[in-house]
Parts: sequence; structure tokens; C-alpha cells
Amino acid sequence: MISTVRKYMKRLMYVIYKKIVLIIVRLTGPPRMLRFDSEINGDILRLFGARIGKNKVRIHSPITLHAAESGYANLIINDGCILNGNNFLDLSSRLELEKGVSLGPNVVIMTHNNYNHNVFLQEKMKHTCGNRDVLIKKGAGIKASALITMGVTVGENAIVAGGAVVNRDVSDNCFVAGVPARAIKEIK
Ligand SMILES: CC(C)(COP(=O)(O)OP(=O)(O)OC[C@H]1O[C@@H](n2cnc3c(N)ncnc32)[C@H](O)[C@@H]1OP(=O)(O)O)[C@@H](O)C(=O)NCCC(=O)NCCS
Repeated sequence: MISTVRKYMKRLMYVIYKKIVLIIVRLTGPPRMLRFDSEINGDILRLFGARIGKNKVRIHSPITLHAAESGYANLIINDGCILNGNNFLDLSSRLELEKGVSLGPNVVIMTHNNYNHNVFLQEKMKHTCGNRDVLIKKGAGIKASALITMGVTVGENAIVAGGAVVNRDVSDNCFVAGVPARAIKEIK
């Protein structure tokens, strides 16, 4: 009986806490960094336009959302996705994680590149500049500290090994590793 009351009180306090957080965040605008638990992180993302699945999604803090001053409409995270924390998600362009994708700790996903105020590099390296969508397909596993660059599609059930730099598309069921990432083997 006491433990049921305690459990109920704990949940009630949590719901109040969550409401307060959401009221404050609504007033202050989309944060660049999410620092809450998975449930509140998901609610904050939804509040500012991200499409986040309702089933088995885990979004562990901290998560940095780049180019998100006007909201998170470029972000789609489907059911069953797990973000293991310390992830940097660039929302300059659309970023979609299909069902069951996992991002290991420190994974960085970029959807733009620029040299900012450097006019020389901006001109000479024009082919490397711009905004391009990233798509991570169903079930793919992006392991710790990998970097996915703009315009890349990672195939279904592909694995990107820890520390890889992925600058080209990855086929379905392919294991890639290294800098730049190269196909190591087919997963069958
Ligand atoms: C993906 C991972 C699990 C693969 O582990 P593994 O035991 O090395 O896998 P395999 O034995 O199948 O490796 C196949 C080949 O790829 C190479 N390889 C594996 N991971 C590599 C990496 N990160 N960078 C470069 N090469 C790598 C292996 O050395 C091996 O090459 P070889 O056949 O010449 O010896 C591991 O690389 C990894 O990223 N671990 C981090 C896990 C993680 O991020 N967890 C977060 C929570 S989900």
C-alpha cells in the first residue's frame, strides 16, 4: 500500500516537473541542447515540429540540435530508434532515422557544410558546400563516434563501425569501417 502511494506520488511529481519544463521551454524557444530524460526530450522535440515515434524511442541526453533556432521540423525519428547520448544532429536539412535505427554515443550527423566567413574556401571548395538530406534506413546501427556527412543514405541493416567517417552512401546489409568508410563485408 505504502509503496503504491509512493509510486503514485513519484509519478505525480514527475508529471508536474514535466509540465513546468515544457512551459518554460515553450516560452524560451527550441533549445540547442536537450538535457532531460528520454520522455521529456521526445516531448520537447515534438513541441517544436519534429516527428518522433511513440513506440520504443529512446533519446538519451545530451543531444545537440544544430541549425534549429526556428524549430525541429527537419527531424524525423521513427519507432524503435535509440540515441545513446552525446549525439550532434545537424538540422540544416532533413534528417530521418527510419524504424529501429541506433546511434551510438558521440555519433555526429551533418546535413550541411560551409566555410562560414572564409570567402576564399567558400569559393574554392564550392563543391563541398551546401545543405543535403541524410537518411538512415531501417535497422541500421551507427556505432560510437562515427561521423555521417551531408547527403549520405545509410542502407537498411547496415552497420557503420565506431569512428568511421561516412561520406558516400552505404548499401543495405553492408558493414563499413574506417576513414573514409569502406565496405568491409556483407552481412548475411
Ligand atoms: C561494429 C563493431 C561492434 C564491430 O566489432 P568487431 O568485433 O571488430 O567486428 P568484426 O570482427 O566483424 O570486424 C570485421 C572487420 O572490421 C574491422 N573493424 C571493426 N571495427 C572497426 C572499426 N571501428 N574501425 C576500423 N575497422 C574496424 C575489424 O578489425 C575486422 O577486420 P579484419 O577482418 O581485417 O580483422 C565495433 O567496430 C564497434 O563499432 N564497436 C562500438 C560499439 C558501440 O558503439 N556501441 C554503442 C551502443 S550500441
